[in-house]
Amino acid sequence: MTKVGVLVGSLRKNSFSSKVAKNVVELFPDGFEVEFVEIGNLPLFNQDWEEELGTPAEVTEFRHTVKGLDAVLIVTPEYNRSIPAVLKNALDVGSRPYGESVWNGKPAAIISQSPGTLAGFGANHHLRQVLAFLNMPVVQQPEAYIGSVHELLDENGMFNNDTRQFLQSFVDAFVDLIKKHTK
Ligand code: FNR
Repeated sequence: MTKVGVLVGSLRKNSFSSKVAKNVVELFPDGFEVEFVEIGNLPLFNQDWEEELGTPAEVTEFRHTVKGLDAVLIVTPEYNRSIPAVLKNALDVGSRPYGESVWNGKPAAIISQSPGTLAGFGANHHLRQVLAFLNMPVVQQPEAYIGSVHELLDENGMFNNDTRQFLQSFVDAFVDLIKKHTK
């Protein structure tokens, strides 16, 4: 079984990002186990954890969970033309101590969403910059920018066929990338 973790860059109860993520989870083929990874319970990263403070239990558990994944899907909104702090914090938390990053080498895929028409382009590309440094191969094409998201989701939080078909092609590309890196 190939394990994919989903990180959602919003803590909002009715988050569009989590609705998008729920649609995408359904599109993985047999042989893939897809699970949401909680990031809202993580304390703000503090480098003193590595010295006098010691590592908080939630952090140890998060690192352990991510270590056990084969790949990571990130669905995120854009905050002020970048990624939300809660997502950056989770990436920072998993990247330390130096040389022990749990992200290293894990294939990743990015979906940005927004009710606006720019579809989180800024967040999408800031995230690409971070994942490049974390040595994570990222799906390049197709790129997934979901704009006007509130108009695309129906009352049950589901996408129409066109959007679902696009997202299926995105998941197919992700699955190919994962297979290339997990032989
Ligand atoms: C936003 N929003 C926003 N939208 C966007 O397209 N570009 C942006 O730079 C920002 N900046 C921004 C900052 C902050 C602090 C908030 C709270 C919101 C609007 C944002 O896209 C909208 O609230 C989404 O619904 C957030 O995603 P979730 O929570 O629905 O997943």
